[in-house]
Amino acid sequence: MPVPVPAALRAVREFVAVYGREPTHLVRSPARVNLIGEHTDYNDGLCLPLAIDRELCIALRRADDLPTAGTGIGAHLRLVSEQDPTPAVVGLPPPAVDTPPPARATGWARYVEGVAVQLAATGLVPWQGALASDIPLGAGLSSSAALELAVALACTHLAGSVPTPTELARLAQRAENAWVGAATGLLDQLACVGGIVGHALRIDCRALSVTPVPLPAGLAVVVIDTGSRRQLVTSAYADRRAECARAARALGVPALRDLDALPADAASRLDPVALRRVRFVIAENARVDAVAGALARGDAETAGRLLLAGHRGIRDDFEVSGPELDAAVAAASGAPGCFGARMTGGGFAGCAVALVDRDRLGPFTAVFHPAYSARAGREAVLHVCSTVAGTSVTALR
Ligand code: GLA
Repeated sequence: MPVPVPAALRAVREFVAVYGREPTHLVRSPARVNLIGEHTDYNDGLCLPLAIDRELCIALRRADDLPTAGTGIGAHLRLVSEQDPTPAVVGLPPPAVDTPPPARATGWARYVEGVAVQLAATGLVPWQGALASDIPLGAGLSSSAALELAVALACTHLAGSVPTPTELARLAQRAENAWVGAATGLLDQLACVGGIVGHALRIDCRALSVTPVPLPAGLAVVVIDTGSRRQLVTSAYADRRAECARAARALGVPALRDLDALPADAASRLDPVALRRVRFVIAENARVDAVAGALARGDAETAGRLLLAGHRGIRDDFEVSGPELDAAVAAASGAPGCFGARMTGGGFAGCAVALVDRDRLGPFTAVFHPAYSARAGREAVLHVCSTVAGTSVTALR
């Protein structure tokens, strides 16, 4: 079997092939998988993701030395991608923040443009780049946050500014919320930018604090790509967010994070659906600390049980699972060596995550695959994750 070429190398090769010169920098931005703490970020709550060894890379070079006079092309950012023949091109200065959606770039270029729009006030320099990525699209592994952060770091580094990881994450989130139009929280961006080898990250989305949680050496985090896909912008994600905000108002708290338990009179103040949403968020926040504690003391059994409880909650109370995700969790949790599994990410489709005894990965895989295809009628792809560092930039010479 041919050995796959890493995204970093593909990006550099693509750069040389397209621009006919060498890139000066390489930006690497990882995918993330969330172990527990789903749909809690926009409720000011807790989550526990890790940055994983699926990455998006941009090879780049400052391009203000290129002649623009007479070409009709002014200073710009230009990013080619191995996945799309049409490059993302953002003229400088970028469009105004209030540019109506129909006049904005479409597809993945809108993320690039959105980040540039957010950085317009702090200064942008022209650059050329080439993008290569091993993060599956729409699978719930944050390919869009990885792109936003890579572009944000490329822009700020070349312009000579040094934002903190939290500032970068917030900027990327603003690009996604205000420019792309997806009302997401901060989980993905903080996870991609904050990754630490060997650790999950306990994120407090109100304090914006990130606490590393060591992962037990014998524990494998396995991402299960169910092969199903969803679109966050058009999914019920925005409905859930609105339901949570309404429920918080009805219960008189700034955010659902402020509840440790259902108030005694909750049933008279919320309809049955809202009651289930709130019950899930309260339990899910508590599970984050319970899973973090279990992992820190090497108790994979407890962590796994909590993941399974999280899946039941998100399926039955929050209702953002999907048939393939349920099939993957059932198949994984019945396979040898598995401590627990759950859907991960925004929901409806995409990926599940399983905690598996590293010494039993062989039997796990052998039992999982036929069990999943019997239930789901399709094949899944398993990825045994390594944890990696967050978005970074390296000078190539
Ligand atoms: C998506 C969003 C995140 C978060 C998760 C659910 O990944 O981008 O902000 O809300 O869904 O936990």
